[in-house]
Amino acid sequence: MSKIAVVYWSGTGNTAAMAVAVADGAKEKGAEAVILPSSDFDVSMVDQYDAIAFGCPAMGAEVLEEGEFDPMFESCKPALNGKKIALFGSYGWGDGEWMRIWEDDCKAIGANLACDPVICNEAPDDTAIEECKALGAALV
Ligand SMILES: Cc1cc2nc3c(=O)[nH]c(=O)nc-3n(C[C@H](O)[C@H](O)[C@H](O)COP(=O)(O)O)c2cc1C
Repeated sequence: MSKIAVVYWSGTGNTAAMAVAVADGAKEKGAEAVILPSSDFDVSMVDQYDAIAFGCPAMGAEVLEEGEFDPMFESCKPALNGKKIALFGSYGWGDGEWMRIWEDDCKAIGANLACDPVICNEAPDDTAIEECKALGAALV
């Protein structure tokens, strides 16, 4: 059985709600999926999973959350070359620039992006929940 990790940071719950839908989508396709806050994940765990969904909202000025998520993600980068991953997250007033930067960064390190990133404005609506489920399924 395929093993998927959904690793996320969320300040006000929007990206957390997306993470649940990502895990649901993976499970519906027959995978085992675990949801992990970014503070509970590190580079030593990357090889325990067949694929990883990373979720983080736009923070600062179009950057990843800098206290926990970004240091975790930076430390994982060397292990993500060739790894099947997907990206998701919520944003507020911007136009998704943080996700374009993040996606480019992941391509540059040679990660295998299973599908396009999923972004949504503030809380995920029904459409965004379905997109998150499809993202989870794409990792299986
Ligand atoms: C400190 C801070 C910085 C933010 N910076 C951005 C930003 O640069 N661009 C943007 O579109 N939204 C920005 N937002 C809005 C959040 O991305 C948005 O509220 C998102 O839904 C939060 O997701 P969460 O509930 O998972 O924490 C920021 C919010 C906070 C609190």
